[in-house]
Amino acid sequence: MDQGQGLRVLMNGSGPPQPAVGAHQGLRVFALVSGKGGVGKTNIAANLALLLSQRGRRVLLVDADLGLANVDIVMGLTTRFTLFDAISGRVALEDILVEGPGGVVVLPAASGIYEMTCLDDTQRYAILHQIDALESRFDTVLIDNSAGISRDVQFFAGAAREVAVVTDPEPTAITDAYATIKILCQRRVHRHFHLLVNNTSSEEDGREVYRKLTTVTGRFLDVSISLLGSIPHDENLNRAVMARRPLVELFPGSPASLSLTRLAERFLALPPPAGQDGGMKMFWERLLRNPGSVAEGGEG
Ligand SMILES: Nc1ncnc2c1ncn2[C@@H]1O[C@H](COP(=O)(O)OP(=O)(O)OP(=O)(O)O)[C@@H](O)[C@H]1O
Ligand SMILES: [Mg+2]
Repeated sequence: MDQGQGLRVLMNGSGPPQPAVGAHQGLRVFALVSGKGGVGKTNIAANLALLLSQRGRRVLLVDADLGLANVDIVMGLTTRFTLFDAISGRVALEDILVEGPGGVVVLPAASGIYEMTCLDDTQRYAILHQIDALESRFDTVLIDNSAGISRDVQFFAGAAREVAVVTDPEPTAITDAYATIKILCQRRVHRHFHLLVNNTSSEEDGREVYRKLTTVTGRFLDVSISLLGSIPHDENLNRAVMARRPLVELFPGSPASLSLTRLAERFLALPPPAGQDGGMKMFWERLLRNPGSVAEGGEG
């Protein structure tokens, strides 16, 4: 399927959108971040996107870490254009979107987004004008970020209303997760964080990581953290990556798939974040406004 075809399928109503289910019917914009690299953000984002889509959410998966093996690989997609092409006016925004498995729509962003969004008012207006067409098409946006806390990550995390920090049980990963939370908190991007612990050996392992992290944040940072879930180490995930298929599609009964399914159910039951729900347009305005103001963004 070509780039624009995916979206056109959705626009023509022949795609999978169904009535959204879940506790909250408004737009949820959820960024996955980590300190350390390779802790599982992309696989979690792609599989969660698919599970939510299967449950009736209309999901836009933003690949904010294009360039390395990421969403496109995990979902078996070929992407030709990125957000950069849309912002520079070469391609219509809707034509950069690609339809992935299960009706998930992927928006290939690009690294260097922070610099490229230093737009003048005319450029910003031109792109926001196109956003109108997406307004009613999605109710869930998941943003898969690169590791660490670059300006790009702060940029996307600032545009999201909710953030999930992904870590594994390794001490270095927990330390790096703490550093990421500290920066997002100090720059007043976010004060509440969801925690996802990946590659665990047991549920207790995940709770132990949560205890370790919150013991330190409780002493030094004014943040609240909730444990959203843990996902066990599962060799099937490597097999799925090799096959370029989402784990939950290829091995739906595997231990990590079952945990991801519980995670999706928990996600759907989450209460909406405090503050106004600005909808898709508000999200894009936040994304495309003067990057200098990103640090003031965040919850609500
Ligand atoms: N639960 C798991 N069980 C087994 N292997 C896993 C698990 N989670 C991740 N991995 C392995 O770690 C690799 C990296 O995962 P992934 O690409 O999702 O991490 P990432 O956080 O997105 O990395 P990056 O920071 O580079 O973007 C996977 O390809 C897989 O081999
Ligand atoms: Mg990744």
